[in-house]
Amino acid sequence: MSVQDEALSAAISTTGPLTTESGAPVADNQNSETAGLGGPVLVQDQLLLEKLAHFNRERIPERVVHARGAGAYGTFTVTADVTRWTRAAFLSQVGKETEVFLRFSTVAGNLGSADAVRDPRGFAVKFYTEEGNYDLVGNNTPIFFIKDAIKFPDFIHTQKRDPYTGSQEADNVWDFWGLSPESTHQVTWLFGDRGIPASYRHMDGFGSHTFQWTNEAGESFWVKYHFKTDQGIRNLTAAEAEELAGKDPDSHQRDLREAIERGEFPSWTVYVQVMPADEAASYRFNPFDLTKVWPHGDYPLTEIGKLELNRNPENVFAEVEQAIFSPAHFVPGIGPSPDKMLQGRLFAYGDAHRYRVGINADHLPVNRPHATVARTHSRDGFLYDGRHKGAKNYEPNSFGGPAQTDRPLWQPVAVTGATGNHAAPTHAEDNDFVQAGNLYRLMTEEEKERLIANLAGFIAKVSRDDIAERAINNFRQADADYGKRLEAAVQALRG
Ligand code: HEM
Repeated sequence: MSVQDEALSAAISTTGPLTTESGAPVADNQNSETAGLGGPVLVQDQLLLEKLAHFNRERIPERVVHARGAGAYGTFTVTADVTRWTRAAFLSQVGKETEVFLRFSTVAGNLGSADAVRDPRGFAVKFYTEEGNYDLVGNNTPIFFIKDAIKFPDFIHTQKRDPYTGSQEADNVWDFWGLSPESTHQVTWLFGDRGIPASYRHMDGFGSHTFQWTNEAGESFWVKYHFKTDQGIRNLTAAEAEELAGKDPDSHQRDLREAIERGEFPSWTVYVQVMPADEAASYRFNPFDLTKVWPHGDYPLTEIGKLELNRNPENVFAEVEQAIFSPAHFVPGIGPSPDKMLQGRLFAYGDAHRYRVGINADHLPVNRPHATVARTHSRDGFLYDGRHKGAKNYEPNSFGGPAQTDRPLWQPVAVTGATGNHAAPTHAEDNDFVQAGNLYRLMTEEEKERLIANLAGFIAKVSRDDIAERAINNFRQADADYGKRLEAAVQALRG
Protein backbone atom coordinates (compact mmCIF):
# COMPACT_ATOMS: atom_id res chain seq x y z
CA MET A 1 0.00 0.00 0.00
CA SER A 2 1.29 3.47 -0.86
CA VAL A 3 1.47 6.27 1.69
CA GLN A 4 -1.56 7.95 0.04
CA ASP A 5 -3.56 4.69 0.18
CA GLU A 6 -2.74 4.30 3.87
CA ALA A 7 -3.76 7.88 4.63
CA LEU A 8 -7.02 7.32 2.73
CA SER A 9 -7.94 4.13 4.52
CA ALA A 10 -7.06 5.67 7.90
CA ALA A 11 -9.37 8.60 7.09
CA ILE A 12 -12.21 6.26 6.06
CA SER A 13 -11.98 4.27 9.26
CA THR A 14 -11.86 7.29 11.63
CA THR A 15 -15.05 8.22 13.43
CA GLY A 16 -17.23 10.93 11.96
CA PRO A 17 -20.67 11.22 10.43
CA LEU A 18 -21.96 8.89 7.73
CA THR A 19 -21.73 10.71 4.39
CA THR A 20 -22.86 10.49 0.79
CA GLU A 21 -20.30 9.57 -1.90
CA SER A 22 -19.58 13.26 -2.28
CA GLY A 23 -18.90 13.59 1.41
CA ALA A 24 -22.01 15.42 2.67
CA PRO A 25 -23.38 14.30 6.06
CA VAL A 26 -26.35 11.91 5.97
CA ALA A 27 -29.32 12.87 8.13
CA ASP A 28 -31.42 9.69 7.84
CA ASN A 29 -30.18 6.30 6.62
CA GLN A 30 -33.39 4.47 7.69
CA ASN A 31 -36.27 6.21 5.91
CA SER A 32 -36.33 7.37 2.32
CA GLU A 33 -37.92 10.70 1.55
CA THR A 34 -41.60 10.67 0.54
CA ALA A 35 -44.19 13.17 -0.55
CA GLY A 36 -46.03 13.36 2.71
CA LEU A 37 -46.79 10.54 5.14
CA GLY A 38 -47.38 7.28 3.16
CA GLY A 39 -46.83 9.04 -0.18
CA PRO A 40 -44.52 8.09 -3.12
CA VAL A 41 -40.73 8.42 -2.92
CA LEU A 42 -39.07 11.60 -4.16
CA VAL A 43 -36.36 11.76 -6.84
CA GLN A 44 -34.63 14.38 -4.74
CA ASP A 45 -33.63 11.68 -2.23
CA GLN A 46 -30.03 11.65 -3.48
CA LEU A 47 -28.89 9.16 -0.83
CA LEU A 48 -31.46 6.54 -1.84
CA LEU A 49 -30.69 6.87 -5.56
CA GLU A 50 -26.95 6.80 -4.99
CA LYS A 51 -27.15 3.72 -2.74
CA LEU A 52 -29.35 1.77 -5.15
CA ALA A 53 -27.25 2.73 -8.19
CA HIS A 54 -23.96 1.83 -6.55
CA PHE A 55 -25.35 -1.47 -5.33
CA ASN A 56 -26.43 -2.37 -8.88
CA ARG A 57 -22.83 -1.98 -10.03
CA GLU A 58 -21.07 -3.96 -7.28
CA ARG A 59 -20.22 -6.96 -9.50
CA ILE A 60 -17.66 -6.99 -12.27
CA PRO A 61 -17.65 -9.85 -14.80
CA GLU A 62 -16.33 -12.97 -13.12
CA ARG A 63 -13.28 -14.65 -14.68
CA VAL A 64 -14.43 -16.75 -17.64
CA VAL A 65 -12.44 -19.60 -16.07
CA HIS A 66 -10.95 -19.84 -12.56
CA ALA A 67 -13.76 -17.58 -11.25
CA ARG A 68 -13.72 -19.13 -7.79
CA GLY A 69 -10.57 -18.50 -5.77
CA ALA A 70 -8.70 -17.27 -2.71
CA GLY A 71 -5.44 -15.39 -2.36
CA ALA A 72 -2.68 -14.47 0.08
CA TYR A 73 0.56 -12.51 0.19
CA GLY A 74 3.92 -13.91 1.17
CA THR A 75 7.61 -14.15 0.47
CA PHE A 76 9.78 -16.00 -2.00
CA THR A 77 13.35 -16.68 -0.82
CA VAL A 78 16.16 -17.88 -3.07
CA THR A 79 17.94 -20.95 -1.64
CA ALA A 80 20.38 -21.84 -4.45
CA ASP A 81 22.60 -20.05 -6.94
CA VAL A 82 20.84 -20.08 -10.33
CA THR A 83 22.84 -17.30 -11.99
CA ARG A 84 24.38 -19.77 -14.45
CA TRP A 85 20.89 -20.15 -15.95
CA THR A 86 19.12 -16.80 -15.53
CA ARG A 87 19.97 -13.15 -15.02
CA ALA A 88 16.57 -12.41 -13.39
CA ALA A 89 17.46 -9.97 -10.59
CA PHE A 90 15.05 -11.47 -8.04
CA LEU A 91 16.87 -14.81 -8.41
CA SER A 92 20.37 -13.30 -8.29
CA GLN A 93 21.47 -14.10 -4.72
CA VAL A 94 20.97 -16.87 -2.21
CA GLY A 95 18.85 -15.48 0.63
CA LYS A 96 17.23 -12.76 -1.48
CA GLU A 97 13.54 -12.19 -0.64
CA THR A 98 10.75 -11.06 -2.97
CA GLU A 99 7.17 -10.23 -2.01
CA VAL A 100 4.55 -12.44 -3.71
CA PHE A 101 0.77 -12.66 -4.07
CA LEU A 102 -0.68 -16.10 -4.82
CA ARG A 103 -4.22 -16.81 -5.99
CA PHE A 104 -5.57 -20.36 -5.85
CA SER A 105 -8.70 -21.30 -7.77
CA THR A 106 -10.86 -23.99 -9.27
CA VAL A 107 -11.37 -23.87 -13.03
CA ALA A 108 -14.90 -24.68 -14.15
CA GLY A 109 -17.15 -23.46 -11.32
CA ASN A 110 -18.72 -20.03 -11.14
CA LEU A 111 -17.85 -17.46 -8.48
CA GLY A 112 -20.19 -18.93 -5.87
CA SER A 113 -19.42 -22.61 -6.51
CA ALA A 114 -18.02 -25.07 -3.94
CA ASP A 115 -14.29 -25.51 -3.33
CA ALA A 116 -14.22 -29.28 -2.75
CA VAL A 117 -14.76 -30.48 -6.32
CA ARG A 118 -12.86 -32.60 -8.81
CA ASP A 119 -11.15 -29.99 -10.96
CA PRO A 120 -7.60 -28.74 -11.49
CA ARG A 121 -6.60 -25.94 -9.11
CA GLY A 122 -5.08 -22.70 -10.33
CA PHE A 123 -1.77 -21.74 -8.71
CA ALA A 124 -1.03 -18.19 -9.89
CA VAL A 125 1.98 -16.44 -8.36
CA LYS A 126 2.86 -12.79 -8.76
CA PHE A 127 6.47 -11.98 -7.83
CA TYR A 128 6.82 -8.25 -7.12
CA THR A 129 10.42 -7.97 -8.38
CA GLU A 130 12.64 -4.90 -8.72
CA GLU A 131 12.52 -5.40 -12.50
CA GLY A 132 8.71 -5.47 -12.64
CA ASN A 133 6.09 -8.04 -11.71
CA TYR A 134 6.74 -11.60 -12.85
CA ASP A 135 3.57 -13.72 -13.04
CA LEU A 136 3.70 -17.51 -13.12
CA VAL A 137 0.12 -18.50 -13.85
CA GLY A 138 0.14 -22.25 -13.28
CA ASN A 139 -1.97 -25.08 -11.98
CA ASN A 140 -1.61 -27.89 -9.44
CA THR A 141 -0.89 -30.27 -12.33
CA PRO A 142 2.25 -30.39 -14.47
CA ILE A 143 0.21 -31.04 -17.64
CA PHE A 144 -2.99 -29.94 -19.41
CA PHE A 145 -5.86 -31.40 -21.47
CA ILE A 146 -4.98 -29.88 -24.84
CA LYS A 147 -1.90 -28.59 -26.61
CA ASP A 148 -3.15 -25.76 -28.83
CA ALA A 149 -4.78 -22.53 -27.63
CA ILE A 150 -7.21 -22.62 -30.54
CA LYS A 151 -9.03 -25.49 -28.76
CA PHE A 152 -9.34 -23.76 -25.38
CA PRO A 153 -12.73 -22.03 -25.85
CA ASP A 154 -14.26 -25.31 -27.16
CA PHE A 155 -12.76 -27.27 -24.28
CA ILE A 156 -14.02 -24.84 -21.65
CA HIS A 157 -17.51 -24.77 -23.21
CA THR A 158 -17.70 -28.53 -22.51
CA GLN A 159 -16.69 -28.04 -18.87
CA LYS A 160 -19.11 -25.22 -18.15
CA ARG A 161 -22.89 -25.02 -18.43
CA ASP A 162 -24.67 -26.40 -21.51
CA PRO A 163 -26.50 -23.67 -23.46
CA TYR A 164 -29.79 -25.61 -23.36
CA THR A 165 -29.82 -27.34 -19.96
CA GLY A 166 -27.85 -24.72 -18.03
CA SER A 167 -25.88 -27.51 -16.27
CA GLN A 168 -22.57 -29.27 -16.83
CA GLU A 169 -23.33 -32.26 -19.07
CA ALA A 170 -21.43 -35.57 -19.07
CA ASP A 171 -22.18 -35.89 -22.80
CA ASN A 172 -20.31 -32.70 -23.64
CA VAL A 173 -17.36 -33.45 -21.35
CA TRP A 174 -16.78 -36.99 -22.64
CA ASP A 175 -17.56 -36.11 -26.25
CA PHE A 176 -14.76 -33.54 -26.22
CA TRP A 177 -12.28 -35.71 -24.30
CA GLY A 178 -13.05 -38.74 -26.47
CA LEU A 179 -12.43 -36.68 -29.61
CA SER A 180 -9.27 -35.12 -28.10
CA PRO A 181 -7.03 -38.10 -27.31
CA GLU A 182 -4.23 -35.78 -26.14
CA SER A 183 -6.40 -35.20 -23.01
CA THR A 184 -5.96 -38.83 -21.81
CA HIS A 185 -2.91 -38.04 -19.64
CA GLN A 186 -4.48 -35.09 -17.82
CA VAL A 187 -7.82 -36.90 -17.43
CA THR A 188 -6.02 -39.88 -15.84
CA TRP A 189 -4.34 -37.44 -13.44
CA LEU A 190 -7.60 -35.63 -12.64
CA PHE A 191 -9.62 -38.74 -11.83
CA GLY A 192 -6.78 -40.17 -9.74
CA ASP A 193 -6.21 -39.45 -6.06
CA ARG A 194 -4.85 -35.92 -6.60
CA GLY A 195 -7.99 -34.79 -8.47
CA ILE A 196 -9.59 -33.32 -5.30
CA PRO A 197 -7.02 -31.67 -2.98
CA ALA A 198 -8.06 -31.52 0.70
CA SER A 199 -7.07 -27.84 0.82
CA TYR A 200 -5.06 -25.29 -1.14
CA ARG A 201 -2.24 -25.80 1.35
CA HIS A 202 -1.95 -29.53 0.76
CA MET A 203 -1.20 -29.59 -2.95
CA ASP A 204 1.73 -28.89 -5.25
CA GLY A 205 1.90 -26.15 -7.87
CA PHE A 206 3.49 -26.15 -11.31
CA GLY A 207 4.39 -23.56 -13.93
CA SER A 208 3.26 -26.37 -16.26
CA HIS A 209 4.61 -24.84 -19.49
CA THR A 210 8.24 -24.77 -20.48
CA PHE A 211 9.80 -21.30 -20.15
CA GLN A 212 13.07 -19.80 -21.33
CA TRP A 213 15.76 -18.67 -18.90
CA THR A 214 18.76 -16.70 -20.18
CA ASN A 215 21.92 -15.85 -18.28
CA GLU A 216 24.19 -12.77 -18.35
CA ALA A 217 26.25 -14.32 -21.18
CA GLY A 218 23.11 -14.71 -23.32
CA GLU A 219 22.99 -18.52 -23.08
CA SER A 220 19.47 -19.90 -22.90
CA PHE A 221 17.85 -22.86 -21.14
CA TRP A 222 14.40 -24.41 -21.10
CA VAL A 223 12.89 -24.56 -17.63
CA LYS A 224 9.90 -26.09 -15.85
CA TYR A 225 8.85 -24.95 -12.34
CA HIS A 226 7.62 -27.18 -9.50
CA PHE A 227 6.28 -26.00 -6.12
CA LYS A 228 6.21 -28.91 -3.66
CA THR A 229 3.97 -28.41 -0.66
CA ASP A 230 5.75 -28.52 2.72
CA GLN A 231 2.42 -29.41 4.39
CA GLY A 232 2.35 -32.80 2.64
CA ILE A 233 -0.12 -33.88 -0.05
CA ARG A 234 -3.65 -34.46 1.25
CA ASN A 235 -6.62 -35.34 -0.91
CA LEU A 236 -10.32 -36.03 -0.54
CA THR A 237 -12.09 -39.09 -1.89
CA ALA A 238 -15.07 -38.48 -4.13
CA ALA A 239 -17.45 -39.29 -1.24
CA GLU A 240 -15.61 -37.04 1.24
CA ALA A 241 -15.63 -34.18 -1.26
CA GLU A 242 -19.32 -34.54 -2.00
CA GLU A 243 -20.12 -34.23 1.69
CA LEU A 244 -17.76 -31.32 2.33
CA ALA A 245 -18.90 -29.38 -0.76
CA GLY A 246 -22.47 -29.59 0.53
CA LYS A 247 -21.68 -28.72 4.15
CA ASP A 248 -19.06 -26.03 3.59
CA PRO A 249 -18.78 -24.68 0.05
CA ASP A 250 -16.05 -22.25 1.20
CA SER A 251 -13.88 -25.01 2.74
CA HIS A 252 -10.60 -24.27 0.94
CA GLN A 253 -10.90 -20.51 1.10
CA ARG A 254 -11.63 -20.65 4.83
CA ASP A 255 -8.81 -23.14 5.50
CA LEU A 256 -6.23 -20.87 3.86
CA ARG A 257 -7.36 -17.72 5.65
CA GLU A 258 -7.64 -19.38 9.06
CA ALA A 259 -4.25 -21.10 8.79
CA ILE A 260 -2.60 -17.73 8.09
CA GLU A 261 -4.59 -16.07 10.91
CA ARG A 262 -3.28 -18.80 13.29
CA GLY A 263 0.28 -18.07 12.17
CA GLU A 264 0.58 -21.45 10.46
CA PHE A 265 2.12 -20.08 7.30
CA PRO A 266 1.89 -22.55 4.43
CA SER A 267 5.03 -22.98 2.36
CA TRP A 268 6.26 -24.67 -0.77
CA THR A 269 9.79 -25.71 -1.76
CA VAL A 270 10.47 -24.51 -5.29
CA TYR A 271 12.36 -26.60 -7.84
CA VAL A 272 13.20 -26.31 -11.53
CA GLN A 273 13.99 -28.79 -14.26
CA VAL A 274 16.55 -27.27 -16.61
CA MET A 275 17.21 -28.35 -20.20
CA PRO A 276 20.11 -26.80 -22.14
CA ALA A 277 18.58 -25.13 -25.23
CA ASP A 278 20.45 -27.31 -27.72
CA GLU A 279 18.97 -30.54 -26.26
CA ALA A 280 15.38 -29.60 -27.13
CA ALA A 281 15.42 -30.66 -30.78
CA SER A 282 16.56 -34.23 -30.07
CA TYR A 283 14.65 -34.83 -26.79
CA ARG A 284 12.44 -37.94 -26.93
CA PHE A 285 9.29 -35.89 -26.22
CA ASN A 286 8.46 -32.48 -27.68
CA PRO A 287 9.63 -30.38 -24.70
CA PHE A 288 7.00 -27.70 -25.49
CA ASP A 289 4.02 -30.09 -25.45
CA LEU A 290 1.87 -29.21 -22.41
CA THR A 291 0.25 -32.67 -22.35
CA LYS A 292 3.61 -34.22 -21.41
CA VAL A 293 6.01 -34.07 -18.47
CA TRP A 294 9.78 -34.30 -18.63
CA PRO A 295 10.40 -37.44 -16.55
CA HIS A 296 12.62 -36.57 -13.58
CA GLY A 297 15.08 -39.26 -14.68
CA ASP A 298 15.71 -37.20 -17.83
CA TYR A 299 15.88 -33.80 -16.12
CA PRO A 300 16.13 -33.92 -12.31
CA LEU A 301 14.52 -31.43 -9.94
CA THR A 302 16.90 -28.76 -8.63
CA GLU A 303 15.82 -26.85 -5.55
CA ILE A 304 15.96 -23.06 -6.01
CA GLY A 305 13.78 -21.48 -3.35
CA LYS A 306 11.08 -21.36 -0.73
CA LEU A 307 7.68 -19.73 -1.03
CA GLU A 308 5.75 -18.84 2.13
CA LEU A 309 2.29 -17.28 2.46
CA ASN A 310 1.99 -15.13 5.57
CA ARG A 311 -0.54 -12.32 5.07
CA ASN A 312 -4.22 -12.36 4.23
CA PRO A 313 -5.72 -9.74 1.94
CA GLU A 314 -7.69 -7.09 3.83
CA ASN A 315 -10.39 -6.80 1.18
CA VAL A 316 -11.32 -9.79 -0.97
CA PHE A 317 -12.91 -7.82 -3.80
CA ALA A 318 -10.09 -5.29 -4.13
CA GLU A 319 -7.21 -7.73 -3.81
CA VAL A 320 -8.52 -11.11 -5.01
CA GLU A 321 -11.39 -10.42 -7.41
CA GLN A 322 -9.54 -7.53 -9.05
CA ALA A 323 -6.15 -9.28 -9.05
CA ILE A 324 -4.81 -9.81 -12.54
CA PHE A 325 -2.16 -12.36 -13.53
CA SER A 326 -0.73 -12.71 -17.02
CA PRO A 327 1.65 -15.31 -18.45
CA ALA A 328 2.97 -12.41 -20.57
CA HIS A 329 4.32 -10.60 -17.49
CA PHE A 330 8.00 -11.55 -17.76
CA VAL A 331 11.14 -9.93 -16.36
CA PRO A 332 14.66 -9.78 -17.86
CA GLY A 333 16.19 -13.28 -18.01
CA ILE A 334 12.83 -15.09 -18.30
CA GLY A 335 10.74 -15.51 -21.44
CA PRO A 336 8.27 -17.68 -23.33
CA SER A 337 8.84 -20.97 -25.11
CA PRO A 338 7.20 -21.88 -28.44
CA ASP A 339 4.53 -23.95 -26.58
CA LYS A 340 1.38 -23.21 -28.63
CA MET A 341 -0.78 -23.06 -25.50
CA LEU A 342 1.51 -20.58 -23.79
CA GLN A 343 1.67 -18.46 -26.94
CA GLY A 344 -2.15 -18.19 -26.98
CA ARG A 345 -2.21 -17.36 -23.28
CA LEU A 346 0.22 -14.46 -23.86
CA PHE A 347 -2.70 -12.72 -25.60
CA ALA A 348 -5.69 -14.04 -23.66
CA TYR A 349 -5.00 -12.73 -20.15
CA GLY A 350 -4.27 -9.07 -20.89
CA ASP A 351 -7.37 -9.04 -23.07
CA ALA A 352 -9.44 -10.60 -20.24
CA HIS A 353 -8.15 -8.01 -17.77
CA ARG A 354 -9.02 -5.07 -20.01
CA TYR A 355 -12.57 -6.43 -20.28
CA ARG A 356 -13.02 -7.61 -16.71
CA VAL A 357 -11.21 -4.99 -14.59
CA GLY A 358 -10.51 -2.21 -17.08
CA ILE A 359 -7.67 -0.53 -18.92
CA ASN A 360 -6.10 0.79 -15.70
CA ALA A 361 -6.25 -2.54 -13.85
CA ASP A 362 -2.43 -2.47 -13.53
CA HIS A 363 -2.68 0.64 -11.33
CA LEU A 364 -4.55 -1.09 -8.50
CA PRO A 365 -2.49 -1.75 -5.35
CA VAL A 366 -2.49 -5.55 -5.76
CA ASN A 367 -1.52 -5.38 -9.42
CA ARG A 368 1.02 -2.62 -9.69
CA PRO A 369 4.75 -3.20 -9.19
CA HIS A 370 5.75 -2.99 -5.50
CA ALA A 371 9.53 -3.07 -5.83
CA THR A 372 9.82 -0.66 -8.76
CA VAL A 373 7.49 1.73 -10.59
CA ALA A 374 5.88 1.36 -14.00
CA ARG A 375 7.10 4.09 -16.36
CA THR A 376 4.98 4.11 -19.52
CA HIS A 377 3.65 6.73 -21.89
CA SER A 378 0.16 5.22 -21.76
CA ARG A 379 -2.33 7.62 -20.26
CA ASP A 380 -5.94 8.26 -19.37
CA GLY A 381 -8.84 5.81 -19.79
CA PHE A 382 -11.51 4.89 -17.24
CA LEU A 383 -10.49 5.64 -13.64
CA TYR A 384 -7.06 7.04 -14.53
CA ASP A 385 -5.76 8.67 -11.34
CA GLY A 386 -3.41 11.26 -12.81
CA ARG A 387 -0.30 9.60 -11.41
CA HIS A 388 1.94 10.92 -14.22
CA LYS A 389 0.96 14.52 -13.41
CA GLY A 390 2.30 16.81 -16.15
CA ALA A 391 5.05 14.53 -17.50
CA LYS A 392 5.39 14.27 -21.27
CA ASN A 393 3.30 11.45 -22.72
CA TYR A 394 5.38 10.55 -25.76
CA GLU A 395 8.75 9.01 -26.57
CA PRO A 396 11.38 9.93 -27.65
CA ASN A 397 11.27 13.25 -25.82
CA SER A 398 13.82 15.89 -24.81
CA PHE A 399 12.51 16.26 -21.25
CA GLY A 400 14.26 13.33 -19.59
CA GLY A 401 11.36 10.90 -20.03
CA PRO A 402 11.84 7.15 -19.68
CA ALA A 403 13.49 5.48 -22.69
CA GLN A 404 14.12 1.94 -23.95
CA THR A 405 17.10 -0.11 -22.68
CA ASP A 406 18.08 -1.76 -25.99
CA ARG A 407 18.54 -5.05 -24.12
CA PRO A 408 16.00 -7.81 -24.99
CA LEU A 409 14.43 -9.55 -21.99
CA TRP A 410 14.92 -12.97 -23.57
CA GLN A 411 16.89 -14.66 -26.38
CA PRO A 412 15.59 -15.18 -29.92
CA VAL A 413 14.44 -18.69 -30.89
CA ALA A 414 15.38 -20.12 -34.33
CA VAL A 415 12.48 -21.11 -36.60
CA THR A 416 12.28 -22.96 -39.93
CA GLY A 417 9.76 -23.58 -42.73
CA ALA A 418 6.68 -21.81 -44.06
CA THR A 419 3.70 -20.30 -42.21
CA GLY A 420 0.66 -22.60 -41.91
CA ASN A 421 -1.76 -24.24 -39.48
CA HIS A 422 0.87 -26.69 -38.24
CA ALA A 423 0.28 -29.22 -35.47
CA ALA A 424 3.02 -29.14 -32.82
CA PRO A 425 5.91 -31.34 -34.03
CA THR A 426 6.14 -34.87 -32.60
CA HIS A 427 9.43 -36.27 -31.33
CA ALA A 428 10.69 -39.89 -31.30
CA GLU A 429 8.54 -41.21 -28.42
CA ASP A 430 5.58 -38.85 -28.72
CA ASN A 431 2.02 -40.06 -29.00
CA ASP A 432 -1.14 -39.12 -27.10
CA PHE A 433 -1.14 -42.17 -24.81
CA VAL A 434 2.40 -43.05 -23.76
CA GLN A 435 2.58 -40.92 -20.60
CA ALA A 436 -1.04 -41.66 -19.62
CA GLY A 437 -0.18 -45.39 -19.70
CA ASN A 438 2.99 -44.79 -17.70
CA LEU A 439 1.02 -42.87 -15.04
CA TYR A 440 -1.57 -45.67 -14.80
CA ARG A 441 1.12 -48.34 -14.41
CA LEU A 442 2.79 -46.31 -11.63
CA MET A 443 -0.37 -46.49 -9.49
CA THR A 444 -0.92 -49.03 -6.71
CA GLU A 445 -3.80 -51.49 -7.07
CA GLU A 446 -5.96 -49.41 -4.67
CA GLU A 447 -5.21 -46.21 -6.60
CA LYS A 448 -6.21 -47.93 -9.85
CA GLU A 449 -9.46 -49.10 -8.28
CA ARG A 450 -10.37 -45.57 -7.17
CA LEU A 451 -9.37 -44.14 -10.58
CA ILE A 452 -11.57 -46.64 -12.45
CA ALA A 453 -14.51 -46.03 -10.09
CA ASN A 454 -14.22 -42.23 -10.46
CA LEU A 455 -14.03 -42.40 -14.26
CA ALA A 456 -16.75 -45.04 -14.62
CA GLY A 457 -19.17 -43.13 -12.40
CA PHE A 458 -18.92 -40.13 -14.73
CA ILE A 459 -18.76 -41.97 -18.10
CA ALA A 460 -21.84 -43.98 -17.07
CA LYS A 461 -23.83 -40.72 -17.14
CA VAL A 462 -23.20 -40.27 -20.87
CA SER A 463 -26.41 -40.75 -22.86
CA ARG A 464 -24.92 -42.17 -26.07
CA ASP A 465 -23.00 -45.46 -26.33
CA ASP A 466 -20.74 -44.22 -29.15
CA ILE A 467 -19.55 -41.26 -27.05
CA ALA A 468 -18.89 -43.50 -24.02
CA GLU A 469 -17.08 -46.10 -26.17
CA ARG A 470 -14.86 -43.52 -27.88
CA ALA A 471 -13.89 -42.13 -24.47
CA ILE A 472 -13.07 -45.61 -23.12
CA ASN A 473 -11.02 -46.40 -26.21
CA ASN A 474 -8.53 -43.65 -25.36
CA PHE A 475 -7.80 -45.30 -21.99
CA ARG A 476 -7.56 -48.72 -23.74
CA GLN A 477 -4.84 -47.31 -25.96
CA ALA A 478 -2.96 -45.96 -22.94
CA ASP A 479 -2.97 -49.41 -21.30
CA ALA A 480 -4.95 -52.54 -22.23
CA ASP A 481 -5.72 -53.41 -18.59
CA TYR A 482 -6.85 -49.80 -17.93
CA GLY A 483 -9.29 -49.93 -20.85
CA LYS A 484 -10.60 -53.41 -20.03
CA ARG A 485 -11.33 -52.59 -16.40
CA LEU A 486 -12.92 -49.27 -17.26
CA GLU A 487 -15.17 -50.85 -19.89
CA ALA A 488 -16.35 -53.49 -17.41
CA ALA A 489 -16.99 -50.89 -14.70
CA VAL A 490 -18.98 -48.64 -17.05
CA GLN A 491 -21.01 -51.62 -18.31
CA ALA A 492 -21.80 -52.68 -14.73
CA LEU A 493 -23.14 -49.18 -13.97
CA ARG A 494 -25.05 -48.75 -17.23
CA GLY A 495 -26.54 -52.26 -17.02
C1 HEM B 1 -4.62 -21.44 -24.27
C2 HEM B 1 -5.14 -21.86 -23.16
C3 HEM B 1 -5.70 -20.94 -22.10
C4 HEM B 1 -6.42 -19.80 -22.22
C5 HEM B 1 -6.86 -19.12 -23.50
C6 HEM B 1 -6.70 -19.33 -20.88
C7 HEM B 1 -7.43 -18.21 -20.56
C8 HEM B 1 -7.71 -17.77 -19.30
C9 HEM B 1 -8.50 -16.62 -18.97
C10 HEM B 1 -9.17 -15.71 -19.99
C11 HEM B 1 -8.51 -16.49 -17.63
C12 HEM B 1 -9.22 -15.42 -16.82
C13 HEM B 1 -8.26 -14.30 -16.56
C14 HEM B 1 -8.89 -13.16 -15.82
O1 HEM B 1 -10.05 -12.83 -16.08
O2 HEM B 1 -8.19 -12.54 -14.99
C15 HEM B 1 -7.71 -17.55 -17.10
C16 HEM B 1 -7.43 -17.72 -15.77
C17 HEM B 1 -6.50 -18.62 -15.31
N1 HEM B 1 -5.82 -19.57 -16.04
FE1 HEM B 1 -5.97 -19.88 -18.01
N2 HEM B 1 -6.13 -20.19 -19.98
C18 HEM B 1 -5.51 -21.18 -20.70
C19 HEM B 1 -4.81 -22.24 -20.20
C20 HEM B 1 -4.35 -22.31 -18.90
C21 HEM B 1 -3.36 -23.23 -18.43
C22 HEM B 1 -2.63 -24.25 -19.29
C23 HEM B 1 -3.17 -22.95 -17.10
C24 HEM B 1 -2.21 -23.56 -16.12
C25 HEM B 1 -1.13 -24.21 -16.43
C26 HEM B 1 -4.05 -21.86 -16.76
C27 HEM B 1 -4.15 -21.28 -15.52
C28 HEM B 1 -4.99 -20.24 -15.20
C29 HEM B 1 -5.10 -19.70 -13.87
C30 HEM B 1 -4.33 -20.16 -12.63
C31 HEM B 1 -6.05 -18.69 -13.94
C32 HEM B 1 -6.54 -17.83 -12.79
C33 HEM B 1 -5.62 -16.66 -12.59
C34 HEM B 1 -6.08 -15.86 -11.40
O3 HEM B 1 -6.01 -16.40 -10.29
O4 HEM B 1 -6.52 -14.72 -11.59
N3 HEM B 1 -4.76 -21.50 -17.87
N4 HEM B 1 -7.25 -18.33 -18.14
